[in-house]
This record gives sequence, structure tokens and C-alpha cells, in this order.
Amino acid sequence: MVYIVGNWKMNKTSIEALDFVKKLSSFLDDNALNSCSIAIAPPSIHLPILHPVSNHFDLVSQNIAFENAGAYTGETAAFMLHEYVNYTLVGHSERRLYFNDTDSSLHKKLILALQYDLKPIFCFGETKQERDAGNYLSVIKKQLDDTIMLLPESAMSNILLAYEPIWAIGTGNNALISQIEEVHSYVRQLVVHENGLKNPETIPILYGGSCSADNAALILDQKHVNGLLIGGASLDFDHFCKIIQIAGQIN
Ligand code: PGA
Repeated sequence: MVYIVGNWKMNKTSIEALDFVKKLSSFLDDNALNSCSIAIAPPSIHLPILHPVSNHFDLVSQNIAFENAGAYTGETAAFMLHEYVNYTLVGHSERRLYFNDTDSSLHKKLILALQYDLKPIFCFGETKQERDAGNYLSVIKKQLDDTIMLLPESAMSNILLAYEPIWAIGTGNNALISQIEEVHSYVRQLVVHENGLKNPETIPILYGGSCSADNAALILDQKHVNGLLIGGASLDFDHFCKIIQIAGQIN
């Protein structure tokens, strides 16, 4: 299965979002892609209007609250999102940077997501400084050790991972293929050893960071890449559909 997930971040009016989603539903109606799973993460305010017209693809929340209910102004709980989405991003680097997501709050978010049947797409990745210093694998290991590795093994079949090197996000410079494969295969091994997972091949590991129709085929062709998390290029309908078509030809 190849996962193509569009992360719209804080973009699009409700009318633009609705128009996109209707067109996407009919595109997927006309182009049956058996081996692809397509998803969109719109701003959460649009979820109720997009939900009834989202056919042939999944909706994703960009975030969930780290508590289940109560005095948390501005937050949206997993049980509320559960009405509209099957997946939620957890730990996107922009959440870590601007909204104080920490490993400990991310661990709580993972537990709540799983409790309410939302599959977490857990994002991790190093800064430019950490990459240049050469300690990026230990940074990544810590990000995973303090979050998904604390979950029971049974949770692993409901989790997707997304390697998003921060220096590649929104820059137009995706990571090199060798850099992507190094991290993806490292993480797959980690999951086997530390979680005792019997079949590590089943954990989908997506890559995100300046994905586009120009680099999608090459990235998706890598052994340990199971999909793409796409920001900027998912905002344009034609561009996003081109990537979907590329993904449809992969297997
Ligand atoms: P980008 O964003 O594709 O615009 O680099 C990816 C992401 O932040 O998920």
C-alpha cells in the first residue's frame, strides 16, 4: 500500500476546500487506484463540511489535544475528531516549534488517538543543525523512544510514521534519496529491536519535506518508503493529482 497524505496546514477557505475535495472525490472515482491510500489533512474547522463529500479518501486531523476534555481553550479532543477523521498527525515539527508539543505531550496524544480509533501519523525528524552535527540518528531515536516506543506492541499495527527532516520542509529541497533510505531503514530496524515487532515491514514509513510531482516517483521507489506526506504541493489540485497518479503506478 502506498500512502499519499496532503497536509494543507493553515490554508484554504471553506469554499476552496469544498471545491477541492469534490473534485478529488470525482477524480478518484474515475481513477480507481487499488494500491493507494489517499488522505487530506485540512484545517479542522473545515472537517464537518468536507466529511459528507469525502469519497474514496480519508480525512486527517492536523493535531489533537493532549487531554480528553475540559478547560483547554482552543483545543479539539480526539473524541470530537473521531466523528470526522480516521487519522491524525501527531508531532508535526510546526506543532513542536510553535505550539510547544513535547515528547511527553505527544505520548499522551498518541494514547488518546488510539483510544478513539484515530490512526496516528507520527512525525519525526532532525533540524539542519542536528544533521550537520552528525547526531541526527540519535535525535530521531530519542524522538521515537520517548513516544511510540512506549506504546504496547499491539498499538504498532495502527500507527504510521512520517520522517520529515525539518530542513527539507517548505524549502523546495527534498532530502537526498540516500538520506531518506538511511533514516527509514534505521527506523524500521529500531522498531524491530526495541518493540519486538514480528513483522516490521508492515509499519508504513512516509517521507515528507518538499515532495512534488518531480521527485515523487524516485522517492516512492525506495524500499523503505511507503508513502509521502505532502505540504505545499498538496494545495494545488492538479499537482496533487499528478502525484497520486505517480503513486498509482508504483507497485
Ligand atoms: P512541504 O511540507 O511538502 O511543503 O515541504 C511537508 C510537511 O510539512 O508535512
